[in-house]
Amino acid sequence: PAISIIGAPTDIGAGDRGASMGPEALRVANIVTTLEGQGLEVIDRGNLSGPANPWQPPVDGYRHLTEVVTWNRLVHEAVHAELVQGRFPILLGGDHCLGLGSISAVARHCREAKKKLRILWLDAHADFNTNILTPSGNLHGMPVACLCGKGPKELVEIGGHVPAISPKWIRQIGIRSVDAGEKRFVHEMDLEVFDMRYIDEMGMRHAMELALATLDVNTHLHVSFDVDFLDPDYAPGVGTTVMGGPTYREAQLCMEMIADTGRMGSLDVMELNPALDVRNRTAEVAVDLIGSLFGKSTLMRK
Ligand code: ARG
Ligand code: MN
Ligand code: MN
Ligand code: MN
Repeated sequence: PAISIIGAPTDIGAGDRGASMGPEALRVANIVTTLEGQGLEVIDRGNLSGPANPWQPPVDGYRHLTEVVTWNRLVHEAVHAELVQGRFPILLGGDHCLGLGSISAVARHCREAKKKLRILWLDAHADFNTNILTPSGNLHGMPVACLCGKGPKELVEIGGHVPAISPKWIRQIGIRSVDAGEKRFVHEMDLEVFDMRYIDEMGMRHAMELALATLDVNTHLHVSFDVDFLDPDYAPGVGTTVMGGPTYREAQLCMEMIADTGRMGSLDVMELNPALDVRNRTAEVAVDLIGSLFGKSTLMRK
């Protein structure tokens, strides 16, 4: 289908400033012409406009909750509007707290369209903290918990259905940094996590085969791509680097296997921080991988 690009230039949920420049860096790295070059129809809707980052300490375990709610409402409505028109939304972050607005919109649309939803969360982090468990108060560490109904009322209610999703619909890939309390909560809620230990032992191919099993013709696949999923050797331009991530080749395979399903219906590209990047290298790697997500391949696919 036709693609709509939505920029959400904010770092409101992050612990470092700069992810607000992510959408423009991805445009400078030619996200639009790359996708057009693959025969896709793309409209760039430009950037949403929301509250500035006041850079305040946490209150009740949340930093900038009011502003995070506003940004997520804006993202929710923008993403849902594209889905209603039968278009494919690509959200350019912005920090990963906006995954809540994006995925709650996809979940709402799937309820309306009677589709099954499956979410691939590509990340170094589980983003499954609560205000009690968080070591930082940063809301970009909490969107998955909020989607599962565990979070502040104003956030979990965006989208009108609580919880927005079931933990059973998520597969996390590439995880290698989970806080102590968060770890217990991941187990308690029974999240399906293919962590780096799993990928080391079984390989990206096997992890993705399992993560993508049980998709059917009626499944909407959402991909939430936190750029810190990638090893920082390839992707230094993120606020929360964690060593030991997927290599460029492993990430390519991951993206190609997603493309092969033909089920992807929406995408987030999050946490790119140009202030920490090296000559826009991370944006360029991200755009290259997004090409693969949309079916770029070296030879004709049999
Ligand atoms: N677990 C840490 C925290 O909650 C880091 C979260 C990083 N999240 C992200 N989307 N980069 O503060
Ligand atoms: Mn809808
Ligand atoms: Mn992350
Ligand atoms: Mn994340």
